[in-house]
Amino acid sequence: METLRLVLLMLHILGFAALFGGLVVQAGQPEKTVNAAMRDGIGTAFLAGLLLVGVLEAGDAGVDHAKVGVKFAVGLVILILVMANARKERIPQGLWAGLLLLTVANIAVAVFWSPVHRL
Ligand code: HEM
Repeated sequence: METLRLVLLMLHILGFAALFGGLVVQAGQPEKTVNAAMRDGIGTAFLAGLLLVGVLEAGDAGVDHAKVGVKFAVGLVILILVMANARKERIPQGLWAGLLLLTVANIAVAVFWSPVHRL
């Protein structure tokens, strides 16, 4: 089970790294869009995150549901905004900045809020 958790955690990190990279690479560009890295990144991060919760729930360590709830809500907003705008030629600067802010916010929640599973 620990190997599965670690594989999912690696996929989870690769996913939001692609999302973050897909956003930041457009920082200097006047026109913003939803690129494949953002779309596939949040899809992977979200799915792996849900599966991670399942693995942790199946384990005997408690799960911090408040932290997971916040991460789920923020992740869902990012997922919906990215998928809803994935076919558009361009997205507003404000949407791009908002997606970047939400992604960094979820990283901060993951890192600074106590670990999801209480050992
Ligand atoms: C953009 C969205 C997301 C970002 C940037 C993000 C970021 C992170 C980071 C940095 C970690 C590793 C730090 C840690 O071990 O706590 C992590 C772990 C985790 N994330 Fe996310 N996350 C996102 C979305 C989600 C979603 C939607 C869920 C599920 C509802 C989720 C569930 C988890 C769980 C359960 C862990 C802990 C894994 C473990 O300790 O085994 N994450 N996330």
